[in-house]
Amino acid sequence: MESIEALCWQDEMIAALRWQSEIGIDEALAETPSDWTEWAARALAARRSPLAPTPFGGGAKSGPSVAGPTPATRGAVAARGVLADAASPEVADARALADSADSLTALAEALERFEGCGLKHTAMNLVFADGNPQCRVMLVGEAPGEDEDRQGKPFVGASGRLLDRMLAAIGLDRNHVYIANILPWRPPGNRSPTSAEIALCLPFIERHIALVAPPILVLLGATAAKTLLNRVDGITKIRGQWFDVQPPGVKRAIPTLATYHPAYLLRSSIHKRETWRDLLAIKSKLF
Ligand code: URA
Repeated sequence: MESIEALCWQDEMIAALRWQSEIGIDEALAETPSDWTEWAARALAARRSPLAPTPFGGGAKSGPSVAGPTPATRGAVAARGVLADAASPEVADARALADSADSLTALAEALERFEGCGLKHTAMNLVFADGNPQCRVMLVGEAPGEDEDRQGKPFVGASGRLLDRMLAAIGLDRNHVYIANILPWRPPGNRSPTSAEIALCLPFIERHIALVAPPILVLLGATAAKTLLNRVDGITKIRGQWFDVQPPGVKRAIPTLATYHPAYLLRSSIHKRETWRDLLAIKSKLF
């Protein structure tokens, strides 16, 4: 016969599980529970420790310089929220760490060491990049999903398969392109990244772009486009136009085009026609 205490404990466990399910916590992320209070203390300690000086003069920079058909205004940038977060000491630390990486391997190691972004602790793997760093085109998406998190590679799920077909349509494959994301860790449950998470990861993707120095940059979806083009406009407005993007540390401006995210095209195939035009624009720039 079970004791009253054991039965009460069971009821509490069931109530707690029901509450988690109701607020959308429906996925186990690890075999063992995490002590988040310990993680918070470590993140605070990491923030207080001095980081290596940067090869580009150090300090937080406020994002890439962008020129395009309709220039991004500082007002628009400030309204986005990412720039407000970009002034924080955590972002300055992220910038210093990212800028100290002088190779892609060093950048991946820097991300493995970086303790400033909580997503690292809910994700299974760091999703750094895929493809050829000596590429003709670098593609930047938003953040890994479930398949990417499991495999540690960007765009390997359903949207990745569509992306491969889109690239094949203009004669490209993963040997010709290099793929990364604004965020290298999966947000739990595939939720949208917060502006604070984007601001913390921006120095790393900017350094990533600087180290690859691709001839052409293609931004997949609204998050990548708004972040790297410093825009508040929606993707429908930004897509299909060439901008010049010059992240910190890049010697020349990179011709950059934003287009719809493949995951969005899977839900909304009506936009495939415009995406096809974007693909043709990329092709004619390349060949
Ligand atoms: N969506 C993204 O933006 N990136 C991935 O790697 C996968 C899906």
